Amino acid sequence: MILTSLRLRDFRGYERLDLTFDPKRNFLIGPNAAGKTNLAEAIHYLSLARSFRTQEDGNLIREGKDAAYIEAEVVEGSFHRVIGIEIGKQKKRITLNGKPLRRLSELSRVVNVIAFVPADAAIFYGSPGERRNYLDIGLSKQSEDYFRLISRFNGLLKQRNAALKRTNPDRLLLQTLTEQLIDVSEPIVRYRSMFVASLNAELPGLLAKLRGDSLPCEIVYRSFVKDDGHFRENAQKAYDDALEGDLIRKSTSIGLQREDFSFRLKGKDISEFGSQGENRMAALALKLCPYLLIEDPDKKPICVLDDVLSELDQDHRERLLHLLGEWGQTFLTATETDIHGETVIDISAHTTTRRNVNGR
Ligand SMILES: Nc1ncnc2c1ncn2[C@@H]1O[C@H](COP(=O)(O)OP(=O)(O)OP(=O)(O)O)[C@@H](O)[C@H]1O
Ligand SMILES: [Mg+2]
Repeated sequence: MILTSLRLRDFRGYERLDLTFDPKRNFLIGPNAAGKTNLAEAIHYLSLARSFRTQEDGNLIREGKDAAYIEAEVVEGSFHRVIGIEIGKQKKRITLNGKPLRRLSELSRVVNVIAFVPADAAIFYGSPGERRNYLDIGLSKQSEDYFRLISRFNGLLKQRNAALKRTNPDRLLLQTLTEQLIDVSEPIVRYRSMFVASLNAELPGLLAKLRGDSLPCEIVYRSFVKDDGHFRENAQKAYDDALEGDLIRKSTSIGLQREDFSFRLKGKDISEFGSQGENRMAALALKLCPYLLIEDPDKKPICVLDDVLSELDQDHRERLLHLLGEWGQTFLTATETDIHGETVIDISAHTTTRRNVNGR
C-alpha cells in the first residue's frame, strides 16, 4: 500500500498540512517538538483509528479547536481510496471514498500501517497487556473472525466479572458465562498459536538481517491452559479450580486476559538476559515481522518508524535502512539532516517543506 497524500486540519499542532509522499522511503526530519511524531501518529491513526500514544482522542485535536480532520489517499495496486476521519471530542466519523465506513475493522484492511515507536523498545520488559495487544492487533488485521471472537470474549469477561461482584453471585449464571468464555477461548488460542508459529518462521531471518549475525530466536506463547486435544476439559477444570478464589476477589483470575509470550534469544528470555540494544532490535523485528506475513505485494503494510535511527549505532542503522530500502513505503522520523534518502520532509514548528535529496 502507498500513502500518496495526506491532509491534516487541526490535528495536534498542525493547523493545516497538505503533503504528498514518495512511494518508498520518506524521512521526516526536524528539531525536537517540531511535529514529527505528530505526523507519524496521524499516518498510523489511519489504520486503526487509534493513536499509538494516547487513549484519549481529544488530545489529537488542536488546542482551542473542536475537531481534527485527517484525509488520505491510499493506493493498493489499481485501487485508489480516499479515507476521511473527523475526530470530534465525543465521537469520530470515518468515510471511505466519501461513504461512511460500515465497520471499524474494515479500516486496517484499507490502510495497513505498522509502527515502531520509542515505547515499543520496552515491549519485552513491559506489561503482558502490551504483548497481548500486539497479538490482538496483528490477528484482528488478518482476520475479521478473530476480531469478532476477541470482542465477544471481552464482552463475556465483563459480564462474568459483573456477576462475581454481585452480593449473592448466581452460580448457575457464572457456569453459563464460563462455558461461553471457553467456547470463544478455544478458537482464540488456536489463532494465537498459529500467529506465533507464522511469526517464528520469519523472525530469525529478519532479526539476522537487522543484527548482522544469525542467532536462534523464537517467541514462546503460553496459553492459559494446554491445547492438547482436551482444551474444553482443561479449561473447565482451570475455571472450576479458580472459582472460589474468583468469588473472594470478585474478578476472573484466569483466562485469555492473562496470557503472555516471551522472546527467547539463544534459548534465554531476552528481557532477563539481553542487552538494551538486543531488546531494541528484537522488538523492532517483532513489530516489523507482520510485514513479511503478507504475501500480496500490493497489500504490504506501510511502515512508520518514529525516532529509531537516533538510538542505533552506525552498523545497525545502515542495516535497517538497507532492509527498508527493499521494502515498500516507509516513514522515518529523525532529528539529523545528514540523511541521504529519496525524499526528505523538513518539519519546523509544524510547517513542512519537501526536499528531494538526490534530485529525483
Ligand atoms: N493537541 C495539540 N494541540 C497543539 N499542540 C500540540 C497538541 N498535541 C501536541 N502538541 C504539541 O506538538 C509539539 C510537537 O510534538 P511532536 O511529538 O510531534 O514533536 P517531535 O518533532 O516528534 O519532537 P521530538 O524530536 O522531541 O520527539 C509538542 O510541543 C506538543 O506540545
Ligand atoms: Mg517525536
